[in-house]
Amino acid sequence: MDVFASTDGQESDGHEQVVFCQDKQTGLRAIIAIYSTALGPALGGTRFYPYASEAEALRDVLELSRGMAYKNALAGLDHGGGKAVIWGDPERIKSEPLLRAYGRFVDSLHGRYYTACDVGTYVADMDVIARETRYVTGRSVEHGGAGDSSVLTAWGVFQGMRAAAEHVWGSPTLAGRRVGVAGLGKVGKHLTAHLLDDGASVVATDVDERALEWARRTYPQVDLVTDTEALITSDIDVYAPCALGGALNDATVPALRARVVVGAANNQLAHPGIEKLLADRGILYAPDYVVNAGGVIQVADEIEGFNFERAKLRATRIYDTTRDILRLADAEGVPPAIAADRLAERRMAEVGRLRTIYLG
Ligand code: NAI
Repeated sequence: MDVFASTDGQESDGHEQVVFCQDKQTGLRAIIAIYSTALGPALGGTRFYPYASEAEALRDVLELSRGMAYKNALAGLDHGGGKAVIWGDPERIKSEPLLRAYGRFVDSLHGRYYTACDVGTYVADMDVIARETRYVTGRSVEHGGAGDSSVLTAWGVFQGMRAAAEHVWGSPTLAGRRVGVAGLGKVGKHLTAHLLDDGASVVATDVDERALEWARRTYPQVDLVTDTEALITSDIDVYAPCALGGALNDATVPALRARVVVGAANNQLAHPGIEKLLADRGILYAPDYVVNAGGVIQVADEIEGFNFERAKLRATRIYDTTRDILRLADAEGVPPAIAADRLAERRMAEVGRLRTIYLG
């Protein structure tokens, strides 16, 4: 495996630092990747996942850490981008000693990287990691943390959707629109509540019967359909992917009836080029990493000492950021995903440059 070649992204400066961590006794095998610290200490979660190979784990952590640099930059945070993966099945090997060993490796970076939750890790795990390092956020409320980040993630997605609605229909509201929510998990549930409050009608789907039952009980006015295909081919104005990545692909985009796509799921574009396919069909896509930044805004706020109102105010600004990106995309004749990348790169370069001013 050629690590330097993997980190030497053709269109970017590449990663700053990639750290391989091992503790044989506990079975810990982790990779911490720091893409950029131009804006401050790198921040991004730890994914605990049984990758098929070391190469797959490395590829994932490199992509994810790069994504965090862009997300944190556009969220207006003083944080660079980083991410970590623990290679293994959390169901089988997660233990207190393993998490604490991992915490010690995080600590050894002396604050160049702050960790948080991701797929396979939870607030309780962050509390354990925190016994070895202070460079951890996303902790439980009992330990002074902010708890579940899906509340502000959903709020931010809703703000992004308002900005998209204004761009397409002239008014920053979903009132009178029909929104298709795919995935009624932690984020999808809160998002549904905001949409109904705003006067939208909602059609939703989920693969988990318990989520559907929750919807029937809580919001009988929400229409439920059998699967995502039924959802995207129904008469919706907005599609909100809130389940897994890859929701926008060669099969779904041609079938999509919505004018606008705004959702929480990470990595919605299945591969490069899909953003162009969306633009060609006249579908406005608000980049996932812009609108789903409410969660990282929350955990970043926790580092300062969590204040919900302050964090919510920051997540509300996702409305302004989305609006600016959509305008820039129009002005420069590029898809919003490209415009978002340009804005993020500009902030990393302009604000990052200030660190070259010698402070004495
Ligand atoms: P979750 O695991 O609570 O909810 C996901 C829901 O999607 C579940 O109810 C699941 O049954 C459903 N689902 C899975 N496959 C499906 C399919 N094929 N069709 C329909 N429904 C399906 O996750 P959560 O926290 O709500 O996150 C949703 C998405 O947003 C994920 O992609 C996550 O990475 C992303 N995200 C979440 C953040 C957070 O703060 N929770 C922050 C940023 C992104």
